[in-house]
Amino acid sequence: MESIKPSKKKKWFLPLVFSLLVSSFLIIFSVFSSNPFHQTPVKPQVPLFVESKLHVAPTLPSSRIPRLAYLISGSRGDGDSLKRTLKALYHPLNHYVVHLDLEASAEERLDLVNFVKNENLFVKAANVRVVVRSNLVTYRGPTMVSNTLHAAAILLKEGGEWDWFINLSASDYPLVTQDDMLHTLSSIPRELNFIEHTSDIGWKEFQRAKPVIIDPGLYSLRKSDVFWVSEKRSLPTAYKLFTGSAWMMLSRPFMEFCLWGWDNLPRIVLMYYANFLSSPEGYFHTVICNAEEFQNTTVNHDLHFISWDNPPKQHPHFLTVDDYQKMVDSNAPFARKFGRDKSVLDKIDSELLGRKGDGFVPGGWFDEGDTNTTIPRYAVANITELRPGPGAERFKSLITGLLSENDFHVKHCI
Ligand SMILES: *[C@@H]1O[C@H](CO)[C@@H](O)[C@H](O)[C@H]1NC(C)=O
Ligand SMILES: *[C@@H]1O[C@H](CO)[C@@H](O)[C@H](O)[C@H]1NC(C)=O
Ligand SMILES: *[C@@H]1O[C@H](CO)[C@@H](O)[C@H](O)[C@H]1NC(C)=O
Ligand SMILES: *[C@@H]1O[C@H](CO)[C@@H](O)[C@H](O)[C@H]1NC(C)=O
Repeated sequence: MESIKPSKKKKWFLPLVFSLLVSSFLIIFSVFSSNPFHQTPVKPQVPLFVESKLHVAPTLPSSRIPRLAYLISGSRGDGDSLKRTLKALYHPLNHYVVHLDLEASAEERLDLVNFVKNENLFVKAANVRVVVRSNLVTYRGPTMVSNTLHAAAILLKEGGEWDWFINLSASDYPLVTQDDMLHTLSSIPRELNFIEHTSDIGWKEFQRAKPVIIDPGLYSLRKSDVFWVSEKRSLPTAYKLFTGSAWMMLSRPFMEFCLWGWDNLPRIVLMYYANFLSSPEGYFHTVICNAEEFQNTTVNHDLHFISWDNPPKQHPHFLTVDDYQKMVDSNAPFARKFGRDKSVLDKIDSELLGRKGDGFVPGGWFDEGDTNTTIPRYAVANITELRPGPGAERFKSLITGLLSENDFHVKHCI
């Protein structure tokens, strides 16, 4: 026994000494190498400000079919229309985030989660996400913008590659198929941003830009409307205000610019809009038009058919079958706002989308015979094969009209 002990000691003693030597060498080495005085001196021509080294990300290769990233959001009672809009918009190449805000009951939100979980195709394609930590969203308040940014951030982090972000609500509906959309969009530059905008803020200067509002949704768990502060503020001089439609289709590079914030503009403007009534009608417009690198990518259209009363009220009127022809003639890919009257949606399904019953919209990716829900045969033909229909032509004529206007290149952000 006595004789074995020393030799055992030796067995572990030598490696210990060795590893101590190695680790102290490593520590010394790392201390010295991280010491700035031991580095080669910084070359004088390196720019002082880091921003100039950061570039707008390039768009994804145009040889590939574009992919869209959708946010579809709703509130209490919107669960069923949200599901319907999701199915009408579904394509396996796209990515979707669905959100029911905190005003919707827990049951309703759970029902949506189960709906997404139980749809084989969504599970297989793994491209539909439900926001489970719901936001409290105040209509007209900045929490609407933060909810939109939240969804876009989820899509950037987990949504794979996509080219455009589209923000919809449960009361929107498509007027063309996704095959039509993707086909038409494959022929246009991917850096374009479809955002209706103007710097002519008119009456909004007094009604919107000068009043200061507080959105309780920023700090309270209970929904209540925005309220006004008695002080007024003056118009910004550090940047120019723009306003326009709250509906838009924004490019991936622009969404990265807004979310990553390597330039301080998107963040500063976001803080400014925290106290602005109807911030969704101004935030992205003001950012894009004050960012030199994005100004020229704007296309002044919101891609929606919306029917306003004359003179416009706070809400557009609910669309009915009487509006059907005007919707089609607008060539817009989306329309709003749809209410309880489902007959107009049924007409759109059967005449424009070819959607039967509660199924998906047929396209190149699956056979029309399979339009019933949850048939495993969705396991699908070929998802990169598009089968554009008349909707592709309509959408194309809208876009070519916009891009070929004589003054297209000079009237960005005016
Ligand atoms: C995004 O979508 C919602 C609908 O849920 C809409 O009310 C809002 O104004 C949209 N726009 C922005 C910029 O958030
Ligand atoms: C945007 O377009 C205008 C007018 O054509 C041009 O003068 C300007 O240099 C362009 N800006 C950028 C950043 O390309
Ligand atoms: C879809 O399902 C319904 C009810 O299960 C059935 O009546 C209908 O024939 C089916 N349609 C197709 C195209 O398979
Ligand atoms: C899928 O369709 C695309 C476009 O039509 C084609 O290029 C590709 O070869 C097809 N893939 C398969 C596996 O059939």
